[in-house]
Amino acid sequence: MKYKIRYIGDPVLRKVAAPITEFDEDLKKFARDMIEVMHVEDGIGLAAPQIGISKQIIAVDASELVEDEYPRVFINPEILESSGEWVVEEGCLSIPGVREEVKRPEKILLKFQDETGELFTEEFSGWLSRILQHEIDHLNGILFVDRISPVRRNLLIVNKMIPEKY
Ligand code: NI
Repeated sequence: MKYKIRYIGDPVLRKVAAPITEFDEDLKKFARDMIEVMHVEDGIGLAAPQIGISKQIIAVDASELVEDEYPRVFINPEILESSGEWVVEEGCLSIPGVREEVKRPEKILLKFQDETGELFTEEFSGWLSRILQHEIDHLNGILFVDRISPVRRNLLIVNKMIPEKY
């Protein structure tokens, strides 16, 4: 496998990813690679910084959780509106062995592009919304452990589940 998962503590996970401006064959190939890595790693979402590429592209496959879903990629995603509230447990390929409850909006209105550059605005709720918000955080250098209570985070640090500085 050409790409390796980057783990918490790797500086690339803290960078703000650059927007994608060229919708060429290389991008289509990279989108396919991302879906492949996500499947190999048994993930339901993957952001490019997690494989060391600081660009605004994420792969999502919620097909195990949502009927009629399929693997897809979202490029330059931007949350326009959000509403509601949902607390549910999250994990992350970059933080192995850690699962914590995270509170986020339940519904989002998302602007994004596909591999061809076509622009979409679509509403997402439930699991798809949750995965998208988690992955979009990655594009902004945010990890889900940033969104848990300081008490829980300290416990993870004390138990050496995450590094003290990351
Ligand atoms: Ni993650």
